[in-house]
Amino acid sequence: MRISSSLSHTEPLQILSVPSVPLRRGELRVRVAAIGVNPVDWKMREGGPLGLAQRVVGPRGPRVVGVDFAGTVCELGEGTRGLELGARVVGGTDFSRGQRGSYADEVVVRPDQCAQLPASVGFEDAACLPVAAVTPWMALTEHTKIRAGNRVLVLGASGGVGLFCLALTKLLGATAVGVCSTRNTHLVRDHGAIAIDYTAADALVAAKEHGTYDLILNAVGSDVYPTSACEALLAPNGLIDLVVVRPADYWAVAFHRRVTTVLGRPTKARLEPLVAALAEGKLKPLVAARFSLADAEAAHTLSRAGKVVGKLLLLP
Ligand SMILES: NC(=O)c1ccc[n+]([C@@H]2O[C@H](COP(=O)([O-])OP(=O)(O)OC[C@H]3O[C@@H](n4cnc5c(N)ncnc54)[C@H](OP(=O)(O)O)[C@@H]3O)[C@@H](O)[C@H]2O)c1
Repeated sequence: MRISSSLSHTEPLQILSVPSVPLRRGELRVRVAAIGVNPVDWKMREGGPLGLAQRVVGPRGPRVVGVDFAGTVCELGEGTRGLELGARVVGGTDFSRGQRGSYADEVVVRPDQCAQLPASVGFEDAACLPVAAVTPWMALTEHTKIRAGNRVLVLGASGGVGLFCLALTKLLGATAVGVCSTRNTHLVRDHGAIAIDYTAADALVAAKEHGTYDLILNAVGSDVYPTSACEALLAPNGLIDLVVVRPADYWAVAFHRRVTTVLGRPTKARLEPLVAALAEGKLKPLVAARFSLADAEAAHTLSRAGKVVGKLLLLP
């Protein structure tokens, strides 16, 4: 199999040929057709809590970054139930289960990490979903129960997470207000949301003019949009969900009941309603750029710059 790996965080990602991992009981192999790129992929290369955890509990051998994948089931392990050979699936790898990452031409996962794709849903659209759509889905449906009449403020509305949060908020019948730069205001409006241009005015002051919020999804960071200022915008039972967590946030997350954090973990149960929304045309991912697997380093350079609008994809 071909993997994209680097020997250390200072070395660029490069293609290596390594033997396929044998399947354990209950596992399946997927021939990968498209891979979604997320900032966590390059953040884990640099270390941080998840990068450290991957080094400690992840699989031995060359480290393969990446989570999101879409492709076709090409081998079933003993006792694997729920999916058949040839099934088209989307999912996320999980290093805590001893699995390699998704920057590869094949991945080994379990059925509860995958949702089946109908023929009408393409691999590229599906590969955008796992981390970037599951994260706001968890905030909207598990951390809160957003429904018609609610209001959601999305800080970082034009990124991978932000655009999905706008679309999913609309899907749930609620109103989204998205904070973005001037160049992306039309895109935010096209997603059925109210746009606030953070370059034109203090975004949180402007957000207050649109009412109070049942959920504030902060996909930029509390250094830019302070949690104390966000709190003043909350509806009585509102929640601030921090997508980006810094050590300075630990106190608020641990002791403040109106502040939490989300760790987007793709599972079959979370992916299935998102795949259904894709199939019904209610969700339409925006792909900013596609790279070959061999050019994964270029995708990371672009993602690190923090200006991506929508999603980056790798194609093996
Ligand atoms: N906890 C989790 O499970 C989880 C899951 C996914 C992502 N994340 C984290 O969440 C963050 C966002 O992820 P992503 O995939 O959405 O990133 P992304 O796609 O790289 O986001 C980039 C976008 O952010 C916008 N932006 C930059 N500064 C902004 C500001 N001050 N206000 C509003 N928008 C701003 C940029 O547009 P402009 O420059 O034009 O404003 C760009 O469109 C990353 O730090 C990522 O690591 C965490």
